[in-house]
Amino acid sequence: MSNIDLKALVSQMTLQEKVDQLFQLTGNFFLSAQADITGPMGFFGLDEESLKSIGTVLGSGGAEKIIEIQKKHLSEDRNKIPMVFMRDIIHGCRTVYPMPLAMGSSFDTELMEECSYMAAREASVSGTQVTFTPMVDISRDARWGRIMESCGEDPYLNSVMGAAQVKGFQGDDISKPDRVATCVKHLAAYGAGEAGRDYNNVEVSERALREFYFPPYKACVDAGTKMVMPSFNSLNGIPPIANKWLLKNVLRDEWGFNGVIISDWNAVGELINQGLADGYKECARLSFEAGCDIEMMSPAYHKHLAELIGEGKILEEELDAAVLRFLEFKEELGLFDDPYHGADPIKEKELALCPEHREIAYRAACESAVLLKNDGVLPFSKDVKRIALIGPFADTGAIKGAWAGSGRDDECVTVREGIERLLPNAQIVTAVGCSATIGDNDTSGFDEAIKAAKDADAVVICIGEPQNYSGEGCSRTDLHLTGVQEELAKAVSAANKNSAVLLFNGRPLVLTDIVDNVNAILEMWMPGTEGGSAAASLLFGDVNPCGKLCVSFPKSVGQCPIYYNYFNTGKPKKKKDGEYESFTSNYLDCGNLPLFFFGEGLSYTDFVYESMTIDKNVLDENGEINVSVRVRNAGERDGKEVVQLYIRDLISEAVRPVQELIGFKKVFLKAGESGTVTFRITEPQLRYYNFNCECVSEKGDFTVSVGYANHMKLTDKFTLE
Ligand code: BGC
Repeated sequence: MSNIDLKALVSQMTLQEKVDQLFQLTGNFFLSAQADITGPMGFFGLDEESLKSIGTVLGSGGAEKIIEIQKKHLSEDRNKIPMVFMRDIIHGCRTVYPMPLAMGSSFDTELMEECSYMAAREASVSGTQVTFTPMVDISRDARWGRIMESCGEDPYLNSVMGAAQVKGFQGDDISKPDRVATCVKHLAAYGAGEAGRDYNNVEVSERALREFYFPPYKACVDAGTKMVMPSFNSLNGIPPIANKWLLKNVLRDEWGFNGVIISDWNAVGELINQGLADGYKECARLSFEAGCDIEMMSPAYHKHLAELIGEGKILEEELDAAVLRFLEFKEELGLFDDPYHGADPIKEKELALCPEHREIAYRAACESAVLLKNDGVLPFSKDVKRIALIGPFADTGAIKGAWAGSGRDDECVTVREGIERLLPNAQIVTAVGCSATIGDNDTSGFDEAIKAAKDADAVVICIGEPQNYSGEGCSRTDLHLTGVQEELAKAVSAANKNSAVLLFNGRPLVLTDIVDNVNAILEMWMPGTEGGSAAASLLFGDVNPCGKLCVSFPKSVGQCPIYYNYFNTGKPKKKKDGEYESFTSNYLDCGNLPLFFFGEGLSYTDFVYESMTIDKNVLDENGEINVSVRVRNAGERDGKEVVQLYIRDLISEAVRPVQELIGFKKVFLKAGESGTVTFRITEPQLRYYNFNCECVSEKGDFTVSVGYANHMKLTDKFTLE
């Protein structure tokens, strides 16, 4: 810690310097070529002088560049306050691990923490001090492109995965050169945009906010995240950036968050389009009053905060408090002692894609893959002589996914490369067959693909959705495979039954029209740098798939939003197969159930749930119940199983979900081996928001089950007294 007196520092700053401490701009502004006062500089009301006291930079990486910008800044800023460099390091910096939706499907918090720490190490040496992660927006709607940035539809899973990311990036001390501070986003319920359209209006009751959407953000606050970013969407009529209730009452007062709040990109200025403000001055007043400390890439604070203070509309003490909070954060990062934090061009080169990091990315890609269907073709024998690789994802590195830091497509191992490395003596023929571009109906490559399939001993059909079709601003209304990939998959599967589909995609897709025509489906998501190596290991049985979906795959886009923890209706009558009878809550042309469920995922071995034992059937407020589940690997291969524990509150004041995940454990069992997994249930886990929206537990009966969705293996009951 430096000996600097931060309060004294604030008091020596001019009013405008204090305002500009809370202004974040991209790195381009600090490289002389961009400093053009007729361009962006003019829009932001900036000149050479005002740039000298800006507090923070976003979006730039690379140790040399960051060191250069910081050095120049410190030579010019009369207060000598280092800038903080922030960036979106979402699933890796240079070494890319699977996108968050894939990581969610690993159901592995330790792995998530390990991956986050790896990203922190690479990011920190490349000059990044804060990452805009974790993103924990509950995502129930596959139309939304940003679903790929979350860990899916479940509050508990997003909470534990979010907390693991905070821990993995921050560690115990963010001043350490291998650590990066986190900024949890996007508060709140950004994933609930109407019709799955990005940035769209969100109408969610306070009860649903508190029960489903808030817990993951709160878990990240509890885990110690240093920053929070409010979301773009308007929330029940009030955009979060201007929402005092959300930022002050809930985030600061209820959750006790005392870190820094930063706007999303121009979210302050967007209040004009949203109709809350007639100009930037009003944007500044509304956002600052609501509690937003830092403005990212809009000119409102810079141009108008000092004026608002002069007019007495905002108190200077409030500004001083926000500046002090930010300076304290800089102090905690250790920037007053070492303004470059971990930035180091030599280490940056050493760490980027180093073998240790590649190994972590490989493991993560293996653990997050989900086997959705297997007629018995997988794993392929390693003795196959000729392998046909079909489809637009057969030999491409464009499988790292959106928001992939400084990762590059040409640094990702393609499926072809992965298989070549694993089976150097096999003869591999690649035939792309068609593109994955929306609207491209060209089938002229089919003949070659079918011929290659016929001539092969094993066929891998690599299809999906291009990586730039998911991520920010990438909503879709059609969730089928793009272009003519469905036809390709069917034709190739018909030509050779020893074939399997490998899926590369950033969101759940509607696979209804191909599921019965293909022999196996292995969901790889956007697996990152080592995607091709992981695919090879999984296809040829070196690794047994163990991922479980963290998000439901709809049968039809018309089912969206769709999620496992829904509320029962008053007309839920089911037929034997689990589908619904008519004059019940149903569709005429499609069942209610998804094609693939949250929690679902096959293995090359069989797990048998032998028994579930509850140590007592009555829980009092101070007690606990231990649930032990005995699982046996009844197959012939070693494997991992994610044992998932769900509860249901049977009678309550307000409607409760039909199932709620409250715990999970991943166990490794050798072929033939049995193991016992024990979960602890305590009263706080049974709380929910009652008639008055108070967080309480209610006395009465609960069921406890293991399995997933409508495939529960064992169920028992207990009572809360
Ligand atoms: C996104 C944020 C991101 C920010 C900075 C915005 O458009 O919504 O998630 O952190 O840009 O890159």
